[in-house]
Formats: sequence, C-alpha cells, structure tokens
Amino acid sequence: MSAAPATAPAHHESAVRHIDGRAQYIDDLPEVAGTLNAAPILSPLAHGRVRGMDTAAAWAAPGVHALVGSADIPGDHVLANFAHDEAIFADKTVQHVGNVMGLVVADSHHRARYAAQLVRPDIEPLPAVLNVRDAVAQQHWVLPPVHVRRGDAAQALAAAPHSLRGTLDVGGQEHFYLEGQIAYALPQEDGQWLIHSSTQHPGEVQHWVAHALDIPLHAVRVVCRRMGGGFGGKETQAGHLAVWAALAARKVGRPVKLRLDRDDDFMVTGKRHPFSYVYHVGFDDSGRILGLRVTQLVDCGFSADLSGPVADRAIFHTDNAYFLEHVAIDSYRCKTHKQSHTAFRGFGGPQGMVVTEVILGDIARTLSLDPLDVRLRNLYGTTERNTTHYGMAVEDNILQPLITQLAHDCDYRARRAEIADWNAAQPTLQRGLALTPVKFGISFTATQFNQAGALVHVYTDGSVLVNHGGTEMGQGLHTKVALIVAEVLGLTPTRVKVNASDTDKVPNASATAASAGTDLNGRAAELAALQVRDRLAQFVAELDGCSASAVRFADDQVHSPAQTRSFASLIPMAYAQRVQLWSDGFYRTPKIHYDKATLSGRPFYYFAYGAACTEVAIDTLTGESKVLRVDILHDVGTPLHRAIDIGQIEGGFIQGMGWLTTEELVWDAQGRLRTHAPSTYKIPTIGDTPAHFHISLWHEPNREDNVGGSKAVGEPPFMLALSVLEALRDAVAHAHSRSGDSTQVVQLNAPATPERVLAALQ
Ligand code: MTE
Ligand code: MOS
Repeated sequence: MSAAPATAPAHHESAVRHIDGRAQYIDDLPEVAGTLNAAPILSPLAHGRVRGMDTAAAWAAPGVHALVGSADIPGDHVLANFAHDEAIFADKTVQHVGNVMGLVVADSHHRARYAAQLVRPDIEPLPAVLNVRDAVAQQHWVLPPVHVRRGDAAQALAAAPHSLRGTLDVGGQEHFYLEGQIAYALPQEDGQWLIHSSTQHPGEVQHWVAHALDIPLHAVRVVCRRMGGGFGGKETQAGHLAVWAALAARKVGRPVKLRLDRDDDFMVTGKRHPFSYVYHVGFDDSGRILGLRVTQLVDCGFSADLSGPVADRAIFHTDNAYFLEHVAIDSYRCKTHKQSHTAFRGFGGPQGMVVTEVILGDIARTLSLDPLDVRLRNLYGTTERNTTHYGMAVEDNILQPLITQLAHDCDYRARRAEIADWNAAQPTLQRGLALTPVKFGISFTATQFNQAGALVHVYTDGSVLVNHGGTEMGQGLHTKVALIVAEVLGLTPTRVKVNASDTDKVPNASATAASAGTDLNGRAAELAALQVRDRLAQFVAELDGCSASAVRFADDQVHSPAQTRSFASLIPMAYAQRVQLWSDGFYRTPKIHYDKATLSGRPFYYFAYGAACTEVAIDTLTGESKVLRVDILHDVGTPLHRAIDIGQIEGGFIQGMGWLTTEELVWDAQGRLRTHAPSTYKIPTIGDTPAHFHISLWHEPNREDNVGGSKAVGEPPFMLALSVLEALRDAVAHAHSRSGDSTQVVQLNAPATPERVLAALQ
C-alpha cells in the first residue's frame, strides 16, 4: 500500500490545535479537586554524603502539606531502570548538582517550589569527577569499556603512506522540548493508579511506578495524549517524574502534579552525551582510509541510564557511510558527577559519525584534494567493500548515486571554485562549503524492542478508532498511522482517529524511539486493519455471492462485482450479522539479530540515507558564523506524508545545526551547570534558518518490506548537519591558507561557537 497523496490531509492531525492552543498538554488538563503540586529539592553539590536536611523553614512556608523522601517508598528505593543504579531520591549520597533529594508537596506549584528552595541539606563533600579525562585516569565507569576490532588497525597504520593524529571534543545538547517534563499521578479505587505522563515510553513509566509502589503492573495505567517534544529526553527520564509524583500522591492520599520549571529541568535531567575523541588514521595518496583507531570517551553523567546503547550506537555509526577495513574502536563509558546523559535524536549516531567526518575533511586538506572526492573514494561499495565493521552487509547502498545527484543539483563543483575566488579577495569574511552523507541504521539495537501492537476499532456508524503502542511528540506518528489505516479500509483519513497512548489499550509497548515509531506501530495497525477488512470482505462475498478477493475498499465505498455500498452503510449490516468489527495487530521486525558480546550481526533492518551540502560564512574578526545555503537530498523511501517528512528533515537538520554551533553547555569547576535557561543556552530560531533551504526526496521505495515502502525519518536528518561543522572547518581552512599558513588540519571543537571559531583561526 501507499498513502495516496490525493487523500492525505495537508496537516499534522493536531496542527490546527497546536496553533490555536486547544491541543491539550498535561498541564492543561482540568485538575481533579484536591490536587496538590510537588517540587524537587535539588542537591547544591556535585558529590557528597548526606548528613541531614534542615526542613524547618520549608515546613513554615505557606501551603506546605508534606515532604517526601526515601522513607516514603514502599517498594525498591532504586529505580527500576535497566542498570538498576539510581536511587529514586538522593537522600544518602548526592551525585550531581541538581540531583533530586526529595520533594515538597504544597497547594500550588509556586508554593512547592518556594518551599523546596528553603530546605537546607547538610552534605559532607566528596571529591567529584567532572570530566572524562579524570574519569579515565580513575577508571571511573558507569559501564565497562567496549572494544571493537575489524582487521588489523595497528599494522595498517604502520604501513600507511600518510597518517594523522588528533583529538576532538564535541559537547552535549539540552533537549529543550517546549513542554518540560511533567507527570500527574492520580490514586484510583482499589489500589489502582492513573498517571498522565509526558513520556515516549508509557510502558516503562508503568513499570517504574509499579516497582516503586510495590504493586503489580496491572494496577498502574499510564496515558499520554501527546508530548510537546521529546527528542529522546522523555525516553527514560519522564519516568523519574512519574515515580516522584506517584510517591508524593501516595503519601498525601491525593492527586499530585509535578512539573519542572525550565531551570530545574536543565538541572535535573540528562542531555545528549558529550564525547571526546583521540584518533590516529592512516591513508593513501588518494585519501582512502587504510587504518583507523578511535578512542571515544563518553561523558555519561552519574548513572548508566541509556549510556550503554547510546555508546554502542556511536560505535556502530563510526563508519557513517564509509568502508573501514582495518579499524579499532575503544569506547569508555565514563562516570562523571553530572546529570545522567540520555537518548537524544540520533542516539549516539551523531557522536559516532562526527569524528570520521572531521577526519575525512582533514585528510582531504592534508593531500590538497577536494573533500567530496575523498568522501566518495571511501564510500561503501555495492558488491565489495560493503561489510560494516560489525559484520552487516550494506545491501541497500544508494550513496554513490544520491551524493552524485545532490552535488550536481546544488552545483557543488562550480560553487567550490567560485567560493575559493571570493575568499581570496575578501579581507574579513570567509565562506566554506561541505557536502556530507548520512547512513543511519534503523531498528532498536536491543532486538526485543522491535515489536509493536495496535487495535483498530470500527464503530457501528463506520467511524474508526486506532490505538497503538507509540506516542506522539510532534513527529506526526498518529497522522501517519491514521493514514495507513484509512488506506487499508479505503476511507477518507478524517474518518480515522488515533487516540492517546494508553497502557490499558496496548500493553508492553516499546519506547517511541530509534525513529521506528511508524515502522513498528504503523505496520501493527495495518495488520489489524487488514483483519477487519478481510472479515468485511468475507461478509460482502456471502451477501453478493462473489469471492472475497473481488471486494474492494476505496473512496469510502465497498465495491463488489454485484453492488457498491457506502462503508458507513455496510458496517451496521455487518454488525447485525455479528461480524467482529475490531481487531488487534502485532508486528515484529524480521531479519535482525546481533550478538551483544561482540557487537556483531545484523542489528538494523535497513539503512536510511541522505546527504546535505551546506555553505557558511565566518567573520574572521569576531568568529561569528552564519549558515547561508543548505541543499538536502534525503531518502525516506516512499513518503507516507510528504509534508511531515520534509518537516522532520528541516527540524532534524536545524536541531543538528544547533548542537554543532550555538548550543553550549557549561559546567563550572564545582560541577554547576551555568547554562540552564534560554538566556544563556541558545537554540536556533527562525533567524538562524538558512535563507536558501532546499530539500528533495530520493525517488525509490524502501528495498526492504516496510510499511508503505517508507523509511524512518525521525532521526537520520539530524546528522545531515555534520555538513555545517565541515563547512565551518572549510572556511577556517580558507582563512588559514590565505594568511599563508600551510597547516591544513583544522582544530575546531563543537559547538563551533564564535569563541571556538576565533581560536581555530589563530
Ligand atoms: N519530531 C518532533 N517534532 N518532536 C520530537 O520530539 N523526536 C525525534 C524524532 N522527531 C521528535 C521528532 C526522535 S529522537 C525520534 S526517535 C523520533 O522522532 C521518534 O518518532 P518516530 O519513531 O515516530 O519517528
Ligand atoms: Mo529518539 S533519541 O530514539 O528518542
């Protein structure tokens, strides 16, 4: 099937309500009478032993009902996360500035927050590890190091005619979802709970809450209509809020809402993992990599959270689009006394790729070659040089034709020559240009998560309601799932509604993550809708004396060779004859398998591809930069919804650009995050969007059997922004060569703020 553009609605299912304000987020829900609000008590120190807490002033503050801590947890005091390494309340040991030590419950949000700030913790300071190099020196890990080898990197490096050594530091990134973290916990009758959670993973919230309350999963219902953005930040860390709110609600016996203010959200929750790299690369005269050694120091923060799978995905994506015959990757999962870093769009993929793109740019400059030629020379082949360092054949490689087409369409070669001439004549400004590819593996690397369920209900008036295990965070999952079901039943998409994610409807659902939301839930919903359609076709076949396969569903009609009936008129007839008008659907991704011990196998069902060509200008006096022009050719297979897919490409690119340019997280020597509000942390705005921003879609369907011939689109475009960093490095190199400096290796860390660009120019 494919979603016919003629029937596709122009907008995201909530677009109008997003704009006119009627889209409800959790803080918009009418509060149940008696609802109280909680606020977190934050650790002022990065590391220490808690001796006590002076709560007298907090108790004396207006409207305070309770203080909540470990003593109020009926179940396990440790969160039920996968590493089981985080106390629910840090009231014995604190491990970062902003670690939540307990809660104040009061009759309003502001009163709770005010009183929480009056709590005076008494903490005996302990030495804090605040950067990865200290962590390495002390072997201070959240998880053991992982070493991946293919071929003989040492031998290849020794034999290579050229080599480069270098280091790179790449900062983290705050998710900056517009709706901050929030949970609303409501005790129900008979020991049951209803939790409204802004979460990408209602099933995990359910599990964590049940574990902390020491009750079975069936007593906890988690609902999420939508998030105001998640970006990976609500994959695990929404669960903390829900557990805290539920524990507070249990203590006071009333509903409790917990909403983090923006500053607290910055201080409490983890971010994209900052990475530091040390590399040694050997290459031939043509720029082809012969051997590569990369050490990846991963700043995980104080607990494991998702650091293991994020660091693994970084290993899996160190190749990006390139064949690395002899490669050694050492990945150190460093424990630092900071927020616990977590999933963020790309999930380690961007951090795996960035170092290799930086290396390729420097190889090209060292050899005075065009970086695009060097990139093309290193690409995976289609019949040889096409096995990844983890042993997966790259079967669906379209990189060569895709890059060639983009380079042609955006006039890459002529513009490079034109920019070089322009730069030579300029006293102050320098322009830079770079074209970089993306190859991103689609599937959860934890194979078991690649399953999904859905329910399709047809009511007696012919209207259709879908529930599936995925969550809506703005990415358009519900719109796409509705389209898929409408297509199967031959209905106008507006006749199909997708309801809030609800653990009472579809159990044991995976996180909506790894960009696989539509692949998994869309297919499950498609399978459910097909079952309903088959039953209806059988019913019509019996009525009209034809074969079921001769019955067609299109244009809100059901056609048999004998008769055409409207869908809405057929349904009550089928109901009267006791035909089941609803069904479940279940899908699990085929073909994938992998060995966790050696990180080898086929972790991904397929790859999503793309390439971006970015032109920037830098001011060599101030270090300021601007992205002038971006051309993208991206592979979404057959688009399920062209406008939403293009929106994901635009948003992903701009978010990636923010990561690499302006979004800087600064922790001071005491481990305090100093950039914890929009006043000091700069995300891109419309003014930062390039004036020329052109996006085209690759023309082929997914070569694997995926829903509607589509490909996942949520994360891959993020990494198209690597072209921004490479274009900035190109501009810096132009400035160097104009001033007669022959050093062609550009030392520019990310984010490439004006200060860093200036430093790179020195
Ligand atoms: N788009 C919007 N508007 N908001 C988001 O929070 N999250 C991204 C991406 N696109 C996000 C988004 C991330 S991190 C992922 S994994 C995917 O959407 C998840 O949704 P999908 O699997 O349905 O694409
Ligand atoms: Mo996305 S980082 O997989 O939630």
